[in-house]
Amino acid sequence: MVAYPGEPLQTLPMTRQALIIDCDPGVDDAVALMLAFGSGELDLLAITAVGGNVPVTKTARNARMLRQIAGREDVPVFMGADRPLRREPAGAGEFHGAEGLGDLTPREPDAPCAEEHAADAIIDRVMNRPGKSVAIAVLGPLTNVALALRKAPELAERLGPVAVMGGARSEGGNITASAEFNIWADPEAAAEVLATGCDVVLFGLDATHQVRATEARIAALEAIGTPMADTAASMMRFSERVERRLVGWPSLPEWGPPVHDLCPVAWLLRPDLFALKPCRIEVETQSELTRGHTAVEFRQGVAGALPHRWAVSADADGVFDLIAEACAPRG
Ligand code: BDR
Ligand code: CA
Repeated sequence: MVAYPGEPLQTLPMTRQALIIDCDPGVDDAVALMLAFGSGELDLLAITAVGGNVPVTKTARNARMLRQIAGREDVPVFMGADRPLRREPAGAGEFHGAEGLGDLTPREPDAPCAEEHAADAIIDRVMNRPGKSVAIAVLGPLTNVALALRKAPELAERLGPVAVMGGARSEGGNITASAEFNIWADPEAAAEVLATGCDVVLFGLDATHQVRATEARIAALEAIGTPMADTAASMMRFSERVERRLVGWPSLPEWGPPVHDLCPVAWLLRPDLFALKPCRIEVETQSELTRGHTAVEFRQGVAGALPHRWAVSADADGVFDLIAEACAPRG
């Protein structure tokens, strides 16, 4: 390669992490999508929508609205499961608004969903790329991923990291005393995915409760002034109001609503922002009282093998720096 005087030496582009995001937007899913859409370091292969916070027709529409705000119509959106494997659909509209995106007025986006079912889209994209090269960030119930693994069990061997927002341990639950919403909503799907041998990394409430949208962090995003930053900040403002009413929290500057779904995407970009511990995770599917609880075993002598990882801590400032960078004006 020749560099002429005054011209910067061209360098080869760094390999970007190929990624599928399976999600149920959802106010915190929306922030995570803004991070993924705005980061130059991800090769976003697909967004797959699942029923969760609101029904799948709405989560798929919301994903397309967010994609349009970010100017990323190049990323296909696929609609997936409208109900959990065995349970009745639950929903968490009280935390996300009836339409799923807080105060954002819903509208039909310009571009439609792609035609394939989300589970098939996951299979196609992973099986047609080199083994272990495609990661999945799962930000909703694990129904789509479980369906893909049922249909193509060989997927387990080929998938890269499966970074999941889900699970409750030390912090207790957020939908019941024992369980976190994504795992509780479809515990059978979570149990199936964890049993496949995939490289599952769980970002449960122990880590995500450390990533809070404080007043200072929301104000910093609002100061950026791009549509992406405004959208992310508006999700946090909605959460702030709702969580203060439904959950309640102390009036401290370091407090604010947790932005759970940011964590798996942030980890794929900057693994050093999180501490993970090897473990074996099983999901309670029998008891109604503790449905969806994640039993996290760290003791190798007891577990035999430790095939999963559990996030124990997060550097929230680092995570919020990432979202601010992703939403900054593009040069
Ligand atoms: C998870 O549940 C959903 O309501 C949020 O979007 C997040 O994925 C938090 O428990
Ligand atoms: Ca979610």
